[in-house]
Amino acid sequence: MKPGAGENPWVERFIYQVRQSAKYRHLDLPEPLLRDVIIRALARYEKPAQAMAAARRVLHQVVAPYLGDPDYTWALQALEASANKGLDAVRQVCLELLRSHASTRERLPFLETFFQRLFEITGTPSTVLDLACGLNPLAWPWMGLPPTTRYLAFDIHRPRVALINAFFQRLGIEGEAFHQDILVQPPQTPAEVAFFFKEIHRFEERQPGCARPFLEAIPARWVMISLPTRSLSQRRDLLSLHQRLMTRILEGLEWEVREIGFENEVVFCVRKT
Ligand SMILES: C[S@@+](CC[C@H](N)C(=O)[O-])C[C@H]1O[C@@H](n2cnc3c(N)ncnc32)[C@H](O)[C@@H]1O
Repeated sequence: MKPGAGENPWVERFIYQVRQSAKYRHLDLPEPLLRDVIIRALARYEKPAQAMAAARRVLHQVVAPYLGDPDYTWALQALEASANKGLDAVRQVCLELLRSHASTRERLPFLETFFQRLFEITGTPSTVLDLACGLNPLAWPWMGLPPTTRYLAFDIHRPRVALINAFFQRLGIEGEAFHQDILVQPPQTPAEVAFFFKEIHRFEERQPGCARPFLEAIPARWVMISLPTRSLSQRRDLLSLHQRLMTRILEGLEWEVREIGFENEVVFCVRKT
C-alpha cells in the first residue's frame, strides 16, 4: 500500500523492513498487523527510532518464534503421505507436529480429555472458531467432533495457515484457516464455541486493555479461554497470576464463567449469551 497524504513514512519503512528481514520474510505477516504495531509505537514514542525498536520488540512477542515450529515443507509431505495410509498414520504425523510447538506440546498428555471436558460444557458445536490457532487444529482427530462441524481457524503465520488448510482438505474436514490478525479484524462468523487458547495474556502485552473489547466482539456463545499455569521453563506457577488477569478482564460483565484445571493449563469457559 502506498503512503496516504500525511501518513508517517516510518510506517511504510517498518512494513518494508519486516517484509525484507530474514527473520520474518517467510511468514508473510498480515499488513494490518504490521501497520497496527508501528502506528501504536509511533504514537507512544517521541523519536521514530525508539518507536521502530519498540515495534520490533512487540512483533517478536506476537510472533513468538521461540515457541517452536515444524519444518513446514516436511510437514506437508508427511501429511500427504500419511493420508493414504489411514487415520492412525495421520494421527502419528499430527502428534509429531503438535510436539513441535510449545503450546500444543504441553497439551499432549491430556489431549483427548481436554476437548471432551470442554464439549461436555458447551455441547457439540456446529461451528468452532479457533482464534490464534497455532497448530491446535491438528488436534482435530482427538476432538471427537462430527464431520459436519465447521472449523474456522485464524492465525497470522502463513506457513501454519497453509499447513492447516492442507490438513483440512486432505482429511475432508469441513474447515478453513484464515491468514488474519484477529485483534485488528475479529472474525465475523457466528459460532457456538470459540477457542482462545494461551493467547489472551499476550494480547494484553501487545495492547493493554484490548482483551475485553476483543472478547465482546467475538460472535460466539461460548469463548473457551485458556492460559498456561506454568512458565515455559516449567519453573514458575502462573495460576493465581492468570486467575487475577481473567478477573480483571471480565470484571463487571454479566457472563457466566466456569474454570477447568488441567495439569499445566486452566480453561475459563465463558458463556456470553
Ligand atoms: C501461544 S500460540 C497459541 C497457539 C494455540 N492457540 C494453542 O494454544 O495451541 C499463539 C498463536 O497465535 C498466533 N497469533 C498471535 N497473535 C495473533 C493475532 N493477532 N491474530 C491471529 N493469530 C495470532 C501466533 O502466530 C501463534 O500461532
